[in-house]
Amino acid sequence: MFVARPIKHAAKPELFRDLAAALAGLLAGETDWAANAANTAALIFATLPDLNWAGFYRLLGGELVVGPFQGQPACVRIALGRGVCGTAAAERRTIRVDDVDAFPGHIACDAASRSELVVPLIAGDRLLGVLDLDSPTPARFDADDEAGMAALAAVFVAATPGLTDRAIP
Ligand code: SME
Repeated sequence: MFVARPIKHAAKPELFRDLAAALAGLLAGETDWAANAANTAALIFATLPDLNWAGFYRLLGGELVVGPFQGQPACVRIALGRGVCGTAAAERRTIRVDDVDAFPGHIACDAASRSELVVPLIAGDRLLGVLDLDSPTPARFDADDEAGMAALAAVFVAATPGLTDRAIP
């Protein structure tokens, strides 16, 4: 049995190093996208403090569609270029938002969200989707979170060839 609990470390880089190792172990030997995405979201949500949402949006048919997550029920479809997730996907870059109310076009799925971090998931030159974290605390995420989540995203992509069992056009 794998029991994930909040990890307390003096420094975030150390926390994310341990979390990346834990994620690699958790996903080892499994390539099913839904299983791996569900476990990745659960591990992140159970270990990182001060989150109200953690999960995946998948690129399907040219738009983002919600995937496995932890938190309140979420918006299902997001157009590329819309909101924080759609912008991160369209521009294929991590977006960190200290105050979601100040981000033009932010999509409020959970009214409790105050800050957000969205990391694109890219395999080779193929965009698979995004990994999205929300927090009820303004400016919850810093550069260490950004780097740490990019490392977790890389572990996920290396273990999981796709985020869909349908052909990506
Ligand atoms: N806030 C996101 C939408 C997804 S939810 O936060 C789960 C956005 O603006 O894209």
